[in-house]
Amino acid sequence: MSTNKKRRLSRRQFLINTLAGSGAFMGAGMLYPMVRFAIDPILQKETQSSFVEVGAVEEFGKEPIAIQFFVEQKDGWYQKEGGTKMTAWVMKQDDGKFLALSPICKHLGCTVKWEGSPEFKDEFYCPCHGGRYTDTGINIPGTPPLAPLDKYKTEVKNGKLFLGSIVPQEGGA
Ligand code: FES
Repeated sequence: MSTNKKRRLSRRQFLINTLAGSGAFMGAGMLYPMVRFAIDPILQKETQSSFVEVGAVEEFGKEPIAIQFFVEQKDGWYQKEGGTKMTAWVMKQDDGKFLALSPICKHLGCTVKWEGSPEFKDEFYCPCHGGRYTDTGINIPGTPPLAPLDKYKTEVKNGKLFLGSIVPQEGGA
């Protein structure tokens, strides 16, 4: 009698295990594509922006000029039609290289402008809280920003200047 009982319990256990195993397998099979879809933008960390042509190299001199251009950027599943409008302050440096600065203030994100204040010549100025940066975008000590302006990656090809993604700038006060 006790052997019989053991056998029945064992079968029940076998059934439970089989059902649980199959359920888990089917559940995982259904769940995986959903989870993969949900986290897809996180896995594709780098934005899909590539270098964008912004003009002929001779258009840029030592004086920073503001240029606007559009990049194709994907934010999660959202991609703005026609691209996202970007602005850069572009200048040619003494060593012949190009510097393209982001206009976004590193304090609280207002827009900085070259010689934005008549008081401060040869500087970028942020009107929101009086943030100041040198002509290469380095934050000036004693003003609110605590880091230099970010810069765009630059590339010159066939006499044209191309701007890429935005990266932090080294240094800073
Ligand atoms: S946001 Fe530019 S100084 Fe505050």
